[in-house]
Amino acid sequence: MSGINSGLNGTAKVASNKVAPNKVNSNKIDSIKIASHKAASNKLVSKKVACPLFLVTGGAGFIGSHIVDRLIDTGAEVVVVDNLSTGKRENVNLRAQFYEVDITRPELFDVFAAERPAFVIHQAAQINVPKSLADPVFDAEVNILGTLRVLEGCRRFQVQKIVYASSAAAYGTPASLPVDERHPVAPISYYGISKHSPEHYFPVYRELYGLRYTILRYANVYGIRQDPQGEGGVVSIFTDRLLRGVPPTIYGDGEQTRDFIYVADVAEANLLAIEKGDGETLNISGHRQTTINELLALMNRLAGTNLAPVYADERPGDIRHSVLDNARAVEVLGWRPRYTLEDGLRETLAYYRQEYGR
Ligand SMILES: NC(=O)c1ccc[n+]([C@@H]2O[C@H](COP(=O)([O-])OP(=O)(O)OC[C@H]3O[C@@H](n4cnc5c(N)ncnc54)[C@H](O)[C@@H]3O)[C@@H](O)[C@H]2O)c1
Repeated sequence: MSGINSGLNGTAKVASNKVAPNKVNSNKIDSIKIASHKAASNKLVSKKVACPLFLVTGGAGFIGSHIVDRLIDTGAEVVVVDNLSTGKRENVNLRAQFYEVDITRPELFDVFAAERPAFVIHQAAQINVPKSLADPVFDAEVNILGTLRVLEGCRRFQVQKIVYASSAAAYGTPASLPVDERHPVAPISYYGISKHSPEHYFPVYRELYGLRYTILRYANVYGIRQDPQGEGGVVSIFTDRLLRGVPPTIYGDGEQTRDFIYVADVAEANLLAIEKGDGETLNISGHRQTTINELLALMNRLAGTNLAPVYADERPGDIRHSVLDNARAVEVLGWRPRYTLEDGLRETLAYYRQEYGR
């Protein structure tokens, strides 16, 4: 992280070094719904500054908004592209420039043209597995074609490096544990396919156009601002149930395992991946198996509740055991999770206890 910190802290004037967005390339991006949090006086200052600019797609979402916050903490200048399909406007850091734009639309290139980002962190995606099964075409349009459009933006506007949020869903049912990056890829959902498929484009863009990249395959991410739906939503669902005093549902016997990683650690891995590694695919995980029964017991203890689960039928397609080997990320990025599961859950529950007034 040192490079980002030292490289940007000195030069950044986050809130004051940009032209107001509706003044930028206005003939092209008039039609885009743009929301600027910036002061009107910004337009007096030239936008061509030494500070490298980061474009974060999906920056109004759970993980993306934490990445934006961390980047801004380092003094970076950040542009967010998000269509608010699951993201929330209030998640977007007030010091980021926000474009309500869909990554599958040509207007995305207008944002690249107006902002000329040096780095792209690509988080925007359709993340709902059942939705991918119900509508695989839409899922592929967002996750495959949307990512391809982001890559095209990087090529056309000479982005230096892109970090792509992929998923453990690429591996499908593990043949052996822990799953490292050489494990065969065999997705068992359309979502797994649509998150993995774009990975193939990155080495070709690198080879043909010198676009540097790092692919991060996340395990089950949890933490503040996670919607109680989606891929790794069990922590947010249990949080919601425990704080409302409703018994949580466990599908199956609860002895299935997951590998949880706190969102702050995922954000940190993204920042490190901007600087370190090139052409790498890295698991970002806690490297630890936790059963769902253990998770609930821990959350009950930390929340000061004692709610027994309701056991329901196992869901078809659920993976029994999952744990990702994170050794390669540790080696390449110099990263390691700083939060134990207990630390991350404590922080999450403390935040939501306030939100729920408990
Ligand atoms: N949450 C997890 O456990 C997990 C695990 C593995 C991988 N991931 C990946 O991490 C990334 C972030 O996921 P998240 O959990 O923060 O989900 P999220 O739904 O909170 O964030 C996704 C964001 O992308 C935006 N978005 C969706 N479609 C878009 C489009 N067409 N154009 C512009 N913006 C669009 C949404 O509005 C949202 O803000 C995704 O790529 C996801 O596949 C998440």
